[in-house]
Amino acid sequence: MNNGYVVAVVGATGAVGREVLSILESRKFPVRELRLLASARSVGRRIDGYTVAAVTDAAFDGCDIAIFDVPDAVSKEWAPRAAARGAVAIDNAGTFRQDPDVPLVIPEINAAAIAHRPRGIIANPNCTTATFIVPIAPLHRAFELKRLFGASYQSVSGAGQPGIDQLWAEVRAVVERGEPLHQPLGTAFPHPIALNVIPSVGSLREGGHTSEEVKALAETRKILGHPTLVVGMTCVRVPTLVSHGVAVHAEFERMPTADEAREVLRGAPGVVVVDDPQANRVPTALTAAGRDPSYVGRIRIDGAGHLAFFAVSDNLRKGAALNTVQIAEALIEAEPGLRNRGTIAGAPR
Ligand SMILES: NC(=O)c1ccc[n+]([C@@H]2O[C@H](COP(=O)([O-])OP(=O)(O)OC[C@H]3O[C@@H](n4cnc5c(N)ncnc54)[C@H](OP(=O)(O)O)[C@@H]3O)[C@@H](O)[C@H]2O)c1
Repeated sequence: MNNGYVVAVVGATGAVGREVLSILESRKFPVRELRLLASARSVGRRIDGYTVAAVTDAAFDGCDIAIFDVPDAVSKEWAPRAAARGAVAIDNAGTFRQDPDVPLVIPEINAAAIAHRPRGIIANPNCTTATFIVPIAPLHRAFELKRLFGASYQSVSGAGQPGIDQLWAEVRAVVERGEPLHQPLGTAFPHPIALNVIPSVGSLREGGHTSEEVKALAETRKILGHPTLVVGMTCVRVPTLVSHGVAVHAEFERMPTADEAREVLRGAPGVVVVDDPQANRVPTALTAAGRDPSYVGRIRIDGAGHLAFFAVSDNLRKGAALNTVQIAEALIEAEPGLRNRGTIAGAPR
């Protein structure tokens, strides 16, 4: 009988890592042994009765599943090393999402892709992509998506703990001073975020796009298996703590009415329709915070004849921690006998 899995959470001290720990527990993931790993700065720290250890090759010995919630550079180095030590690495960073040998998975949409993972790594999509692709995928299946335009409203926790810390520091300061700030009180954002919006998320890329906007295009194409899909996004940081919203305008080969779209969305896994604007029932950031689904509302045909809606989900949960745990659940459902494969020849010692 299977008595559970050895699971490592790498980045267990961060905003996403701590959420992974709580979701593993609340969803009763069958854990036989839990290893909390982080940087040397956190070694010895106690979280939920566990002691944090440093990331080392030996930390992955005998580990079945390693969930990575660390910066890109750290996962780039350590996810392949964990896989070389025989673990399946589930990675939340951006590093491997476009690698053709790494599946990019949202279990409600493409769980079967998990089976093909030649590098022993499975990637988790970006939090903004996760927000709108959960409702867009069933609409695409029903009506064939042609073009998608959107603007995001992204919370500060999308920039991790430093983003949360900067917003709180600035909120305290603006309340004390009674006016907006001229300089940021932190390094997560280059402008003050309290009482402000910043129309730039991520680093600047060719053509004036940001890295977040480039990810939305590439990841949507990969997850939907639609390599020619047109996606136009503007990503904006707003002063909310948790949840990313996306205002979506989509064109389909067979344009649905708003009612037809609503019906598809009502039956879609992972989607909750909150759509009665006359009664002020619209999905807000706080609707989604701390919850699992992608909430969708304001469903209508816009002035250009496109299907429009607002989708919002908790970026730390569906956008990150929850989806990685759902990947782990799909993995053990498909492969209940999953075990550490042992150190692969040539792996670092
Ligand atoms: N926040 C989101 O909404 C979101 C959504 C999707 C994906 N992601 C991705 O998830 C990852 C984690 O994001 P986060 O928001 O949780 O960031 P965070 O709050 O800044 O946490 C970063 C974590 O990485 C650890 N770490 C940093 N450098 C390390 C090193 N050299 N070796 C080992 N561990 C190291 C930190 O450990 P220490 O505490 O010891 O420094 C901490 O546990 C990132 O790749 C991010 O892009 C985030």
